[in-house]
Amino acid sequence: MTQGPLTTEAGAPVADNQNSETAGVGGPVLVQDQLLLEKLAHFNRERIPERVVHARGAGAYGTFTVTADVTQYTRAKFLSEVGKETEVFLRFSTVAGNLGAPDAVRDPRGFALKFYTEEGNYDLVGNNTPVFFIRDAIKFPDFIHTQKRDPYTGSQEADNVFDFWGLSPESTHQVTWLFGDRGIPASYRHMDGFGSHTFQWNNEAGEVFWVKYHFKTDQGIKNLTAEEAEVLAGKDPDSHQRDLRESIERGDFPSWTVYVQVMPAAEAATYRFNPFDLTKVWPHADYPLIEFGKLELNRNPENIFAEVEQSIFSPAHFVPGIGPSPDKMLQGRLFGYGDAHRYRVGINADQLPVNRPHATEARTHSRDGYLYDGRHKGAKNYEPNSFGGPTETGRPLWQPIAVTGVTGETVTPVHTEDNDFVQAGNLYRLMTEEEKERLVKNLANAISGVTRDEIAARAINNFRQADEDFGKRLEAAVQALRG
Ligand code: HEM
Repeated sequence: MTQGPLTTEAGAPVADNQNSETAGVGGPVLVQDQLLLEKLAHFNRERIPERVVHARGAGAYGTFTVTADVTQYTRAKFLSEVGKETEVFLRFSTVAGNLGAPDAVRDPRGFALKFYTEEGNYDLVGNNTPVFFIRDAIKFPDFIHTQKRDPYTGSQEADNVFDFWGLSPESTHQVTWLFGDRGIPASYRHMDGFGSHTFQWNNEAGEVFWVKYHFKTDQGIKNLTAEEAEVLAGKDPDSHQRDLRESIERGDFPSWTVYVQVMPAAEAATYRFNPFDLTKVWPHADYPLIEFGKLELNRNPENIFAEVEQSIFSPAHFVPGIGPSPDKMLQGRLFGYGDAHRYRVGINADQLPVNRPHATEARTHSRDGYLYDGRHKGAKNYEPNSFGGPTETGRPLWQPIAVTGVTGETVTPVHTEDNDFVQAGNLYRLMTEEEKERLVKNLANAISGVTRDEIAARAINNFRQADEDFGKRLEAAVQALRG
């Protein structure tokens, strides 16, 4: 801001910013005190709706650098050359807490990354977990209702959480992950990121590959125990946000090595797991991690509200060479986010400095709406036109895929080794004895808060189906706590 006298919103100099204008000394306040009215009115409108999920978060800018040639898989320009750099903005978050909730809690962490590419912004709106609780978007609002505040008590309730999970056995893998050691990261810097869904890459020749993204932290994985987190959440509710800002301020830039798993399109139909089921990983033995990039965060936002609260990320923001898969969760998200942005930030949200393309410009015929800044000046606002306006390319960003069958409310197809428990059991059996003990303890503590026996029993039964030993130990631990 330039120097000079304090002004009103209309730029007129302010004489007194400490005393409102009264009728006589000690008299009532005058309506003609525009400064007072303007300040109070503006203050009342400072908040916008918080995100319905992932309300609590922190962000930073940085750079993505290509470290290996992936042009055989994708024609995305920002991935076209080793050494190529693209500006990024990453917002980390927790899921269930409202704005102002503590950072050090057991909850997945959001890992929302915006690449400002020369072909438009590419958003990868992922988490720090490779899988998710459900596999169909139609269940998402119900699921989130169980994670947020109960309509009667106003608090998160173990009854609701474990009722939903118990009745949704596909959540067993993600819940096993969440109550294990990685369920409470020590900071945003000490965790991995995942695109989680399967996405389409397509190359110049039009060949299709299904891919999954992995961002492995170069800081090393560090977690908090439940006891450490309880203390930290009380002492420093902003622990993760502070850690990120301070590390960047001191020049200790966090970074992640970026990998992709690549499945040739023809293999999807016969793969042992449904590759579009978000509750499943692709074991690395089947599809190894291919390293192709480095992500570094190196610049803090200057204004949290403008750049973090108003930042928007959409799984529907693709660029040429990258597109969606038929994953039913992803398909739902393609609608959900843009709609949330129009409600939360407004119809011109994507023109704000943090959201608009930085390496190209948006050339649309959309116009007007609240807070339109007139950037198009007198240019024609329709197409086709004879005035040299922007024109279509004729080449879709992603390749078409073959589909068969009839419409209907279909269950996600099951492949040869699919069931709701197989990968949860594999995850449990991979853990050391100490890890298993902590997992059982964390879960038992949470389940012991359930008031109804049948809800607790149903939840425990899912873990038993994943692994007999897991279920037995959990049942004993819950019984010991419930007495
Ligand atoms: C069908 C399932 C889902 C729906 C309908 C949904 C919906 C939403 C909505 C409405 C928001 C708030 C957006 C805003 O106000 O800007 C949001 C935020 C977010 N979601 Fe989801 N979500 C779903 C599943 C997922 C999954 C599977 C992931 C990760 C793999 C995820 C990651 C995130 C992240 C990281 C944010 C925060 C973005 C930011 O930092 O602004 N969501 N989600």
